[in-house]
Amino acid sequence: MIHSCTVVAPASTANLGSGFDVFGLGLDPLADKVKIVRGQWKRGRITIRLVGTKGRAIPSKPELNTAGVVLQKMARDFGIDDDLDVFISKGVPMGSGLGSSAASAAASAIAFARLFELGIGKTELIRYAGEGEIASAGTRHYDNVAASLLGGFVIVREIPQLDFIRITPPDDLVLVVAIPQLKMPSRKTEYARSVLPKKVALKNVSQNISNATTLVTGLFRRSVDLIAMGIEDGIIEPVRSRLIPGYDRVKARAIEAGALAATISGAGPSMIAILRTAEREKPVRGAMALGFKEVGLSCQTLTCWPSRGARIIATT
Ligand code: HSE
Repeated sequence: MIHSCTVVAPASTANLGSGFDVFGLGLDPLADKVKIVRGQWKRGRITIRLVGTKGRAIPSKPELNTAGVVLQKMARDFGIDDDLDVFISKGVPMGSGLGSSAASAAASAIAFARLFELGIGKTELIRYAGEGEIASAGTRHYDNVAASLLGGFVIVREIPQLDFIRITPPDDLVLVVAIPQLKMPSRKTEYARSVLPKKVALKNVSQNISNATTLVTGLFRRSVDLIAMGIEDGIIEPVRSRLIPGYDRVKARAIEAGALAATISGAGPSMIAILRTAEREKPVRGAMALGFKEVGLSCQTLTCWPSRGARIIATT
């Protein structure tokens, strides 16, 4: 019998401009680590503890915690009532638009399935991890959890049934991430979704389809230039960019400094820039930081690359 399971799951960036709720990309080196230990008793109690210094604010009540929601649902569905001790180390900055809740959710689903040897496939694991997004975003969306769990670039399909297409990105795809120190509303993703238009112009839909298909073609042709050409989004970004002071400057400065494109990471407020090779990473990081500084915001920048996805690192 397995007593404990530890899983590491990476950060992710969702949407990549033109693929709202459809595209996701797993990102190294940021990652959350979740260890689940089977308790001595069968009372169905889930205890959540934060390990380390980051992410002090995560809720410890299971029904409010991303990992807790996933585990409660899985335990219910599989009739498992073992007490669980859950230890979460947050490596993905919370509320930044880099899939922090998704990383904990994906890691929890994998750890629980391994601990109780459920033998369920990746699509089911992603479906469970998606439940965790309700705790933070108010709705299920699978782009971050799928990218964190599977790694690489992911296309989410929901109709006629939940399904995922994973594509391995080209090796020379590099991303610079800028995470501004910005006070966001609690349940930031829920808020950032509430401001989105309910109806959009057909012209903008056509443009986004053109860009999204260009981006996917870039992945298959292993062309970072084409990927970058497909990032432009005329539907979501014009609205959400108003929530990010300095958005225009950060984008323009990143491109001046050598990035091929820049956009909002997921629901923001982080921004990502697309680079071919890490050659220009330093100037682009500096340029994005300057863009935020010009509007009075400090920010953390880092260089990321596509992740291979979540993995079990220990079982006892
Ligand atoms: N696709 C989601 C959104 C990602 O943009 O709201 C949230 O991280």
